[in-house]
Amino acid sequence: MQMSHGSKAVIAEISAGLLSPAAHTSPKFLYDGLGSKLFEAICELPEYYPTRTEASIFAAHGAAMARAIGDGSVLIDLGAGNCAKAASLFPLLRPAQYVPVDISRDFLVGAVAQLQQRFPQIEMTALGLDFSNGFALPDSVRAGRRVFFYPGSSIGNFSPAQAVDFLRGLRANAGADGGLLIGVDLIKDHTVLDAAYDDALGVTAAFNLNMLRHLNYLIGSDFDVEQWKHVAFFEAEHGRIEMHLEARRALTVRWPGGERRFERGERIHTEDSYKYTRQSFVSLLERAGFATNHVWTDADNWFAVIHARVI
Ligand code: AVI
Repeated sequence: MQMSHGSKAVIAEISAGLLSPAAHTSPKFLYDGLGSKLFEAICELPEYYPTRTEASIFAAHGAAMARAIGDGSVLIDLGAGNCAKAASLFPLLRPAQYVPVDISRDFLVGAVAQLQQRFPQIEMTALGLDFSNGFALPDSVRAGRRVFFYPGSSIGNFSPAQAVDFLRGLRANAGADGGLLIGVDLIKDHTVLDAAYDDALGVTAAFNLNMLRHLNYLIGSDFDVEQWKHVAFFEAEHGRIEMHLEARRALTVRWPGGERRFERGERIHTEDSYKYTRQSFVSLLERAGFATNHVWTDADNWFAVIHARVI
């Protein structure tokens, strides 16, 4: 048996998911060091259209977005990473304050130090917090016109009900004249969707399978990656891509304090990625207290960037 490195809460969360009749895990466990690198590689794949399509929308309509948002905002970048997406919009958006938020503040600090040299007029305040479970912004974030920037269609990794709760939380932090600039992946031909999550090189398969190694590290389990296979498909009833890991043969996984037998073909559900129609997302925003101001899309209507204001 291996050692576990996760906190008690993480071990309890993972064990409960693995032991439930339909085994499942949170997609956040896809992202250890290697998982984050594999996700970066996914974004370069020809099949994974969201990253380049969203970038093309920013390139074509950045000036119109800046007009809609106005100069001098407090731009709060959720899941900022290397801050590159927001930084490419700075010359147009000209925010008064830039607030990148990510789980790892250490990572942000380096990126912000470089950005601050290029844009000395913008006040920059890096925040290390997990914003996925609700949060309150500290006083270091100015009370001015707060605009949340949430690109990449990460909203799709919440269920619609969770997405409404999450957006309500943003609304509560946005202030009366606040807003949101968000990237949303749209429903399209299912073969395009399926290929984006099951690419020919097997990078997404590696990304999904790597979760098992991460689980071994966190809970001390003995998952053998070779006994599992990546499964991903568009599930039309819920309008979502589902990712699973499927047992290639009957096996038992053991970890300190637990074990689970999987039959051949039994799956662990690892991620959902919800896709929306323009209208279904606009009404989701409304339920969360945001009125859509403008929707920008690409020529194929594959992806949308939406500006919405607090109602
Ligand atoms: C981070 N998130 C928006 C990605 C998505 O498309 O749902 C994660 C991903 N999973 C597989 N490929 C990419």
